[in-house]
Amino acid sequence: MIRSIVRGVGTALPRRIMKNAEFETLVDTTDEWIVQRTGIRQRHVAAEDETTASLGEAAARAALANAGLTPADIDMIVLATSTPNNTFPATAVEIQERLGMRHGFAFDMQAVCSGFVYAVTAADSHIRSGLARRVLVIGAETFSRILDWSDRTTCVLFGDGAGAMILEGVESPGLLTDRGILAASLRSDGSHRDKLYVDGGPSTTQTVGHLRMEGREVFKHAVGMITDVVEDALARGGITAQDLDWFVPHQANKRIIDASARKLGIPEEKVVVTVHLHGNTSAASVPLALGAAVADGRIRQGDLVLLEAMGGGFTWGAVLLRW
Ligand code: UT7
Repeated sequence: MIRSIVRGVGTALPRRIMKNAEFETLVDTTDEWIVQRTGIRQRHVAAEDETTASLGEAAARAALANAGLTPADIDMIVLATSTPNNTFPATAVEIQERLGMRHGFAFDMQAVCSGFVYAVTAADSHIRSGLARRVLVIGAETFSRILDWSDRTTCVLFGDGAGAMILEGVESPGLLTDRGILAASLRSDGSHRDKLYVDGGPSTTQTVGHLRMEGREVFKHAVGMITDVVEDALARGGITAQDLDWFVPHQANKRIIDASARKLGIPEEKVVVTVHLHGNTSAASVPLALGAAVADGRIRQGDLVLLEAMGGGFTWGAVLLRW
């Protein structure tokens, strides 16, 4: 059988770091409130010359270098983003062009914070169906461009950044002990679409709009949805949470991460946390966390890794893989 194995990962962050204290001069908030309620201490904010495409390109180049590959080796790009450079064409084709690729195909995927998890499963399906062999999966966002900077309930939560992963199809005996993507579980439920959304769009207001969120409502659903989908992915993979080496959750709120891990019975030392450094970077959050844990040597070849995310839509999902 064909398995999609991870060949490399890479990340990119805007130059500017914005600490919580800076928000005290913009809105009625405090560093203490932000840290206590979310765990966030800082986030990166894109400058004018830094876009979803430029950050995505930088993360892609880092992943290619990590894998020892060049753009010539890639035949598909899928970019998870809710903040594309333009409504169309897909920002993925801009990244394709920036990488000097005139072959293969590229498209965007829009599942908000779950985008990277959705994109990994799409890449895996394309690989296993034979449509692609080596896929560049990118999560890249510039949420700073769609924030209402006068709304303290949202502007303190999000940040910009990008992460990328290269998946390659290889012949495999297909055992639990073999490398690659083992199982996945995806969900969405549009009846929750007004709890986290952007109040604009081409077909409605002809504007880009600003992010709006009923934070408490999202919070209320998050832990249950995350643990359901994680348990489903684990069951499909034929393992339990105790077998995991690493839990790499979506980085929206440290309290959600802690509560989910506790409910799943995953000890703190197996949970990768970067929310204090990046804030919520939506589709970029899981690959940014993965990139950090690979770079510092925590995640190693052979480890069992569980990725999960939950966000606007609502959408939610989990991917189980052997690194
Ligand atoms: O990535 C997609 C998924 N998104 C998420 O997972 C986000 C989920 N939601 C959350 O993380 C949390 O709900 C928040 C961090 C957004 C808010 O935390 P909370 O503990 O749910 O607070 P809350 O919304 O219940 O607000 C508590 C109080 C309110 O004041 P009152 O009504 O008690 O007087 C808010 O107005 O905190 C107030 N507040 C703030 N105070 C200082 C809200 N934002 C701020 C702020 N600074 N930035």
